[in-house]
Amino acid sequence: MFIEKKTKYKIQKDFSTIELTEIKEGTNNFDNFIIFKNNNIIDIYDRRCDHAGGKILSTKNHHTCPYHNWKFSPETGRYNNGLEKKKLKFKITNKKIIIENKKFIPQLNFIKSKKSVSIEYINHAFLIIEGDGFKFATDPWALGPAFGLGWWLKNKTKRNWLKELQSCDFIYISHNHPDHLHQLSLSLLKKDKQIVVPNFKSNSVSKFLESMNFKNIKKIDFLKHFNFKKTDLNFMILKSGDFKDDSGLYFTAGNTSFLLAVDSNNLNSHNLPNIDLYAASFAGGASGFPLIFDNYSEKQKVKILSKNKLLFKTIRLKEIHLTSTKYFLPYAGSFLEKLDRNSYIKKNNQKNSVDDYIDINNKFKTLDINKNNIFEFFDGKLLSQKNIKYPVLNDLDEKKYEANFQNIYTKITKKSLNNYFLKSKFHDNLILFISLMNVDYTKSFFNLSINFTKKTTKVKFYKTEITKDILRKQYKKDSPNLLFISVRLESFINILINMDSWENLVIGFECKIFRLPNIYNAKFWHHFSNVYVKDKSQKKGIDCYSCERLNQRIFNQILNI
Ligand code: FES
Repeated sequence: MFIEKKTKYKIQKDFSTIELTEIKEGTNNFDNFIIFKNNNIIDIYDRRCDHAGGKILSTKNHHTCPYHNWKFSPETGRYNNGLEKKKLKFKITNKKIIIENKKFIPQLNFIKSKKSVSIEYINHAFLIIEGDGFKFATDPWALGPAFGLGWWLKNKTKRNWLKELQSCDFIYISHNHPDHLHQLSLSLLKKDKQIVVPNFKSNSVSKFLESMNFKNIKKIDFLKHFNFKKTDLNFMILKSGDFKDDSGLYFTAGNTSFLLAVDSNNLNSHNLPNIDLYAASFAGGASGFPLIFDNYSEKQKVKILSKNKLLFKTIRLKEIHLTSTKYFLPYAGSFLEKLDRNSYIKKNNQKNSVDDYIDINNKFKTLDINKNNIFEFFDGKLLSQKNIKYPVLNDLDEKKYEANFQNIYTKITKKSLNNYFLKSKFHDNLILFISLMNVDYTKSFFNLSINFTKKTTKVKFYKTEITKDILRKQYKKDSPNLLFISVRLESFINILINMDSWENLVIGFECKIFRLPNIYNAKFWHHFSNVYVKDKSQKKGIDCYSCERLNQRIFNQILNI
């Protein structure tokens, strides 16, 4: 079905030269590089930030990326969250440092076709793409919430989405966030459906699908060129350029090229080909940061949110420019925070709209998913765009989903909490504090700390509530990082017994966070969001995968409508 081809690259090379005599001991700042010299050892770092491609700025001896405030230390070669920055290769000739910047831009074959390609926008990141002899779907989220009870589809899905999805040759799942890998939507599919997933080191997507008993999961290595069944469809999966498990899909069909960057940051380190249609998320406001972070005042939150909203759009425009795209399809951003429990988020969150991307200079054309749902392409051009009205799905009321959730996720014991953390095999210079609380954070049921600094993880339960003030008193400059998460009890039970990703709690606004120091504990979030998830060996000792029960109950209720 998938025929592997040799990947071709267009190579773009350029050189930067710096006189060796310009380099002094310690840190040296150049326009595009930071160079650190320690006696005879020279380390050279690109100013491009490894988080999402911002440019690290240096003032005195502070090197900070203004995008999200990551701080870089040239002395250690690490960011303040512990992540290591890659060193650049260079050579020294005739007392000159020569830094070679080689870009490998992947290129796919074009196979001529007499038929057009259509992209149907179903909902959020759920697309159905159909051409000459192929039909595939992406990231199907069609009903119910995502990220616990945090996210809801803005618009209803067409009623026959499942039949359409079932008729696809394959489904591409870009990453394990539940608005892309949506358990409830996927659980309605036949288990032999062909699913194509990125081959992440952690197996975060494939593990999840295996836990749902899908049998045909094709893990695809990044940058591997595939042809589908000798049709005119060629594709490859690109990795996000940051440390996260995220991906995008680059494909050609006939003489048209497409790039679905989905949610990726800095996709393929911005080594991107020229593209006819570029599609990417447009809204932002999708991380829980800074609204649920207690390190910031309300005034600071508003400032960060408006800065991030603008930044999000700026990055997308940069990518549109980089790919010389003719058409931009903003998608994967049609979600709302609907429940009363998240009214604070609903009121204060800031997002971009599709209209924010209308190009007044007409350098590219924005395809508006609010006006049309079928976009047809031929020979690199948009042939037509239409709005076809379909009967829509009668999904359950949000309150019913909430009630189901609250009825299922009620019980947790000290023993299962203890087991869960002891088996996590996670070690870091970090002590985690957790308060399991009621929905409006006024009452705590369990208070515990988990010390990951020792060889054997230590879990300690407290009779009294943990507070920020207590932690502030406890924290000294050289003590381990402290991370305090107050989380809604039912949401935490859901994550724990289903071995789900902890990122869901943050992105779904189901917790509050306080950090000392106020930095992103990257290793912790990666481990508990991508590594220690859907782990079969840990299933023992944990009640059951009770989401199956929940799904069953939901389907029964939908059928009764
Ligand atoms: S901190 Fe640099 S891009 Fe986010």
